[in-house]
This record gives sequence, structure tokens and C-alpha cells, in this order.
Amino acid sequence: GAIKKYQFDIQVKNVSRLCHAKPIVTVNGMFPGPTIYVTEGDRVLVNVTNHARYNMSIHWHGIKQYRNGWADGPAYITQCPIQSGNSYTYDFNVTGQRGTLWWHAHIFWLRATVYGALVIMPKQGTPFPFPQPHREFNILLGEWWHADVEEIVKQGNDMGLPPNMSDAHTINGKPGPLFPCSEKHTYAMEVEPGKTYLLRIINGALNDELFIAIAGHTMTVVEIDAVYTKPFTTQALLIAPGQTTNVLVQANQVPGRYYMATRPFIDVPIPIDNRTATAILQYKGIPNTVLPTLPSQLPESNDSTFALSYNKKLKSLNTPQFPATVPQKVDRKLFYTIGLGRNPCSKCVNRTRLTASLNNITFVMPQIGLLQAHYFSTKGVFKTDFPDRPPKPFNYTGAPLTANLGTSQGTRVSKIPFNATVELVLQDTNLLTVESHPFHLHGYNFFVVGTGIGNFNSTKDPANYNLVDPPERNTVGVPTGGWTAIRFRADNPGVWFMHCHLELHTSWGLKTAFVVEDGPGPNQSVLPPPKDLPPC
Ligand code: C2O
Repeated sequence: GAIKKYQFDIQVKNVSRLCHAKPIVTVNGMFPGPTIYVTEGDRVLVNVTNHARYNMSIHWHGIKQYRNGWADGPAYITQCPIQSGNSYTYDFNVTGQRGTLWWHAHIFWLRATVYGALVIMPKQGTPFPFPQPHREFNILLGEWWHADVEEIVKQGNDMGLPPNMSDAHTINGKPGPLFPCSEKHTYAMEVEPGKTYLLRIINGALNDELFIAIAGHTMTVVEIDAVYTKPFTTQALLIAPGQTTNVLVQANQVPGRYYMATRPFIDVPIPIDNRTATAILQYKGIPNTVLPTLPSQLPESNDSTFALSYNKKLKSLNTPQFPATVPQKVDRKLFYTIGLGRNPCSKCVNRTRLTASLNNITFVMPQIGLLQAHYFSTKGVFKTDFPDRPPKPFNYTGAPLTANLGTSQGTRVSKIPFNATVELVLQDTNLLTVESHPFHLHGYNFFVVGTGIGNFNSTKDPANYNLVDPPERNTVGVPTGGWTAIRFRADNPGVWFMHCHLELHTSWGLKTAFVVEDGPGPNQSVLPPPKDLPPC
């Protein structure tokens, strides 16, 4: 492979959207940030220099970082933040992966504006397992907030209130012409009739799962989270924060202008959502005076039927060239409940603060990186006593429980022997309210072997697992009031963060980590830390 070098300068820049200017944190003054293009097998060096007053840390979402957690990026998990005025070079190999991933800030809520695409082209001579597109477009979905993101976090964390919703969704940083002052903040894709296009769609939104559709056009899903899928054609997509989806779109309609539009999937009652972002699919030669049409097939915000049936269609390609290596036997069975609750808070408005937990444990961020503590055997930073199952089973999805909303707190993680096969069932609960949670595991892809509504039944449900061609991904939605079972082989030693990719829930404590032990072999242990690893 080649060596690909990038320079990321973290700088604050004034950006205006929706008739409103504000300073935002950027990479190289760009919003969204620059795209990283690499080829499978390359070594990537990204030098991040922090010129802003915020601490910074960048995560390469979906890159497996074999033995190399030092380049993974989550602050206080695998590194201390890059402080103002300092630099750090993320140095990693891209092996055994190809497709669309992305990168984002992994500290506080700074990924609101600090994110970009990471495209891995297949090795020379290895074509896509689908028709070669004429051209490709990167589509980054995001959110725009008028308020300073720091203020929004403070409101949620320090005051104990749910933070405000964003003011608009965005496509490549642009909300589209349905918003005031946004005519020039509209993303357009120019297409030629009869040609096929590859759209690399990334959900970088902080807190919203999104539906997306293009008026008059269908989309053929060919890849999710940088893993090829069995192609299927759909009217709309569902994509959770953290996830990526590659689709083929054929420009096979009457030449014109068509809206691509987003809408959040929120199946708990919310006020009417008017944050719909639009972009335009523009046939070559059609004047801008032609009014675009909106996609009538875009699902309503509460369309959980569409969501369930869409997710069921996702299957790994599973060919000899791209096999699905699903663990058939399980060494370690884990069952984690996901709960939203309340904890006492003396300085909070209502004397309580919203909180979130796994197995009733709210994760407390450490003061130094967990990976350093693990590597240097520093005592007292974390405990490896995270329970394999909840303290007491209960009717997880029954009537809302008002008692027992309090959680215990700690920096508690689970220790996994090298190469063990792990099954983790994530069970949503109705402690405060049921809600859909997109879970992301660092350092691995996993197979989504099963999912269902209601309480997981450990005798019946495993019989229906798909152990042949389940979707392989790095982020999966746990359905509202339901469960999802994933499997992976713990063959990557290190400390790997796992969390809900809704930033709000992460900051409420919906996170933990796996400490995967070193293997006995010569190339099965965590690599030594790089010299420029930021100090705490
Ligand atoms: Cu995309 Cu831990 O993050």
C-alpha cells in the first residue's frame, strides 16, 4: 500500500446558515470537513494541529485499528485530548476494509461541526461487486444548531434538562432552499440521463436517525458500514447516526430537478418536525427555474413499520470473495439492558438529572485514557467488573417503571479473553421511556444475528438467528422497546469503546468499553504507544 498524508488544522471559523452567523469549530476551515480518500492496504497519517481553544480528538469511525487503539480517537478512552496549540499524528493502516466510513471529533459534542467522509477504494483490480457507477457523490447528513453547541451540552448535563433540538438538518452542511436565507446553501448533484450514480451516504447527525428519499427515484442498497450487502431496491433509506449506506441511483426519470429529502425517525411522540433538509438531483441542462418536486414516498417520522421492514432487508453479500465469517459458537454471552432514568442532582433545575445506563450502570469518564491505563497496568483508573447481565431481571418493556430509576455510577468495563467469540444482546427497557438506540462498537465489525420487539427470550429467539448472511456493521439500531443480538470475535486486543451514537445519550452515560486481552502469539498484543501521544 501507499502512504497517504493529511494535515488537519483545527480552527474556529464564522459560518452562516438560516440567516444566522456563528463561530464553529472546523477542520481546515471547512464545514463539513475534508474527505479522506485511501485505497485498501494504504497507511494513513493524519497530523491534527489544534489551533482552537477547545480540546480535540478525532475518531476514524469504522476503521478497525488492529492492535492500534492509539489511533482510534475517543477522548479518555484511547488517548487524552489534543490540547490547544498541540499536534498529534493519527497513524493507521486500512486493511481488509473497503467502502464508505467517516471521521468525526470524539470529545464533548464537537462532532456537531467536526466531521467528514473517509472513502476506502477497493484494491486495484478488485472491482465493486455491482455495476461500475458513472460518478459518485458523498452525502453527509448532519444537524445545524443556532446555539453554541457547548451551551446546549451544558443545558443537558449541568442543568439536567433535555437539550434543545437542532434548528435544521443538513446535507453536506447545507439545509436546502426550504429554509430562510438558504437558497445558496443547497447541495446539488448533476446527473446525466441514463447513467448510474453511487451515493455514499453518511449519517453524521448528533441525535437523529434519518429517513432519506429522492423524488421519483428508487435507490439500490449495495453496502452498509463499508461491508457489501445483497443488493435490494428501496423507495427510502433509514440511517442512524454513525452508520453509512452506499446506494446506486439511476437517472432514469424525465429530465428535471428532484429533491432528495431527510426526515428524522422518532417513534416517541414529539412536536411536528420541521427540520427537513433537501438537496437537489439536477439533470444536466435543466434550468434552475424549474421547481423541484418533493419525495412523496419519504416515510413519516413515526413509521416504525418501514423501519423494521427496511432493516430486515439488510444482508451481507456473503460470497467466497466477501464471506460473512459469523461466529457459530459463542464463548461469552452478554446481556445488557439500555435504560434512561433520573439521578439526584443538587444544582439541577428539578433536583434530578436525566441519565442513561447499561445494566443500570452509568459510565463515568476517567481522567486518563483507559488504553494507557490498560497498557501500563495503572491501577485505580477502571474496574473490569461490568456485569454480564442485569442485576435483577424484570419485565424490560412492560409498563413504565417509576421506581428504581436511579443508577449506579462507575468506570466499569468488561474484560474479554483474546479471540473469544462474544454474543451481546442489547435490550431496550421502559424505565423512563422506550427509545431506539444506535449502538456503535469501536475496533470491530459485528454481525447482527437477530432483532425483535419486546423482551428477548433466551430459549426461543436464538433459534431464529441468521447465522448465514446477517448484516455486518459497526453501528446498529436497537429498536424501541425491543432487542438486538450481535456477535463478534474478539481478535483485536486493546480497549474498545461501545456507546449509543446519539450524542445526548452518550453524554448521559450510555457507554462502556471492552478490554480485550493480548493474545499469546507474536503479533497479538497491543502495539507500543506512539511518541507523540497527547499527555493528560
Ligand atoms: Cu462514531 Cu465512538 O463514535
